[in-house]
Amino acid sequence: MSEFRPPTIIVNFKVYAEVEGTRSLTLAKTCQKVSKESGVEIAVCPPVIGLALVAHTLDIPVYSQNVDPLKPGSGTGYVTPSMLHSTDVKGTLVNHSEHRQPAEQVKTCIDMCKYLSLDVCACAESVDKAKELAAFGPQMIAVEPPELIGGDISVTTANPRIVSDTVDAVHSVDKDVAVLCGAGVKTGEDVKTALDLGARGVLLASGVVKSRDPEAVLRDLIRYI
Ligand code: G3P
Repeated sequence: MSEFRPPTIIVNFKVYAEVEGTRSLTLAKTCQKVSKESGVEIAVCPPVIGLALVAHTLDIPVYSQNVDPLKPGSGTGYVTPSMLHSTDVKGTLVNHSEHRQPAEQVKTCIDMCKYLSLDVCACAESVDKAKELAAFGPQMIAVEPPELIGGDISVTTANPRIVSDTVDAVHSVDKDVAVLCGAGVKTGEDVKTALDLGARGVLLASGVVKSRDPEAVLRDLIRYI
């Protein structure tokens, strides 16, 4: 059994205007405050441009929103596993719906990140994709139906079956992979349902990032944990 403990909540800041400039650090500090006070592990994924600042300032897990399968060297505009590792970043998302990569690239990213002890949360749009990615051995897989991303109906309400089926499918391949779910998650009820369906946590964005009161949303998200 792996000793890896997945974050219960991963907040993907995406590239929303609300996290431009130093606001990325402000939101990350709010996530850290709620995490420390509650004991619930919350990880943050700031925009790439703010990763180093947030990772050096905070001590909750800071993940990149993406990584490219490149070694250090000649390459322009990429985010390498080595770069993340040397910047105190704890892990990364890969293959997000808004940043898809071919399966072989996802595998290479996972291998390179594992070598550097970086956590990987691989995103999948379907049960089948989640099962395919489970064979690559990431620590986490987040299932997110693309059509629900950014909307007001949580995956746990619109399609609870995809969550429980993904848990079963992934665990039929590798029991140590933690399954998360995301898309439209906004409330403590949504998180509770996700956990009841067998997920270990949630990956969310707009519910926190676009809120006028992110701290209140975060406190609500963890209320049943
Ligand atoms: O990365 C999380 C994401 O794709 C879900 O976004 O806005 O539906 O929580 P949102």
